[in-house]
Amino acid sequence: MSAQTLSINGREFGFEPGETILAVARRHHIDIPTLCHLKGAMPTGACRICVVEVVGAKTLLTACNTKVDAGMQVQTESPTVVAARKLIIQLMLSSGNHNCAVPGSDRQEWTDFQIKVQGEDGSNQLCPVWGDCRLQDLAFRYQVSPERLDVTPARYPMETVNPFIVRDFSRCINCGRCVQACNEVQVNNAIQFGYRGPEAKIIAADDKPLKDSDCVFCGECVQVCPVGALVEKEGRYSVRLWETQQVRTTCSYCGVGCQLDLHVKDNRVVRVTGVDAPPNNGSLCVKGRFGYHFVNSPERLTDPLIKENGKFRKASWDEALDLVANKFKKIRDTHGGDSMGVLVSARMTNEENYVAQKFTRAVLKTNNIDHCARL
Ligand code: SF4
Ligand code: SF4
Ligand code: SF4
Ligand code: FES
Repeated sequence: MSAQTLSINGREFGFEPGETILAVARRHHIDIPTLCHLKGAMPTGACRICVVEVVGAKTLLTACNTKVDAGMQVQTESPTVVAARKLIIQLMLSSGNHNCAVPGSDRQEWTDFQIKVQGEDGSNQLCPVWGDCRLQDLAFRYQVSPERLDVTPARYPMETVNPFIVRDFSRCINCGRCVQACNEVQVNNAIQFGYRGPEAKIIAADDKPLKDSDCVFCGECVQVCPVGALVEKEGRYSVRLWETQQVRTTCSYCGVGCQLDLHVKDNRVVRVTGVDAPPNNGSLCVKGRFGYHFVNSPERLTDPLIKENGKFRKASWDEALDLVANKFKKIRDTHGGDSMGVLVSARMTNEENYVAQKFTRAVLKTNNIDHCARL
């Protein structure tokens, strides 16, 4: 343990020079809520939800960008901290079209609130990330109840003109995570803050739609948006987070081997997110994130096919593999291994490519093995 210590909620912890209060707290499983904080990016202190009380400080301090000092005494859930967080949540909820409603104790009141925010004609559609929103989670955690909310109607038209991402800035809390994800993590520099004061909003290329900007539709911004301001277009009103199972796998599009979670509902892939592990550390490209429809395509081959008399017929795996193995063996034994060559693919994983070269050298007895990347 480090020689220098601080106290958090009355317990002593060591720290390394330069660490923030948030980093030390998280390492010791002390939960300080965050909204704007993004791992791997410079902390901005934009949302202030991570405020903590520090003995001797004149104001509450933001844990995500306050460096720890020896002897510091921090309280993360004191009555002052909780009151400040409630106010911040309330301001965020009332600054946008946050019509999800946080269930209070009175069910009728809750129902009335839903009707009120939706409008008589139901035009103000409920939020697609209901149940998967950090702001809603916080409103629930700190019981910021609906009767205290004054929901602002939608101020901006939704942007729905590209196939992948819906932008709804009426739900944006200006946390800036999308800007950091685009500029600091993916380094695409497609979006930034535009306008000033109450008009401040995230813009792409002089406030144009994403499709007319430098956006490459990697979806990093969607993945980090803590609320319903950026959502994936497909399935946004038909799939709920808790209805899906997550299956971890390796992206099949190239040899980088990005780790991804397939979100599966009724045995169909309905969404893909990046796993926070090497080599991609949560990031994906447009193919890995949005190119999953082939998995469920009815045109996929699901059985081996053997061509006879110019026509394909279905076969068992045993029959097909025996046929191919016998033909390879016959060619090798008659003409030698060097009469064959194997071309592997970036669509295979590194492990599959490795096995293919082993098979080529050890079984086919040739070094004629190459990769489509060299074509
Ligand atoms: S973005 Fe979150 S807080 Fe806002 S309406 Fe949607 S679920 Fe509610
Ligand atoms: S999809 Fe990718 S490139 Fe486009 S704005 Fe979002 S992070 Fe930037
Ligand atoms: S779009 Fe989402 S991530 Fe970007 S600033 Fe708004 S709330 Fe934050
Ligand atoms: S998480 Fe610390 S200011 Fe936003």
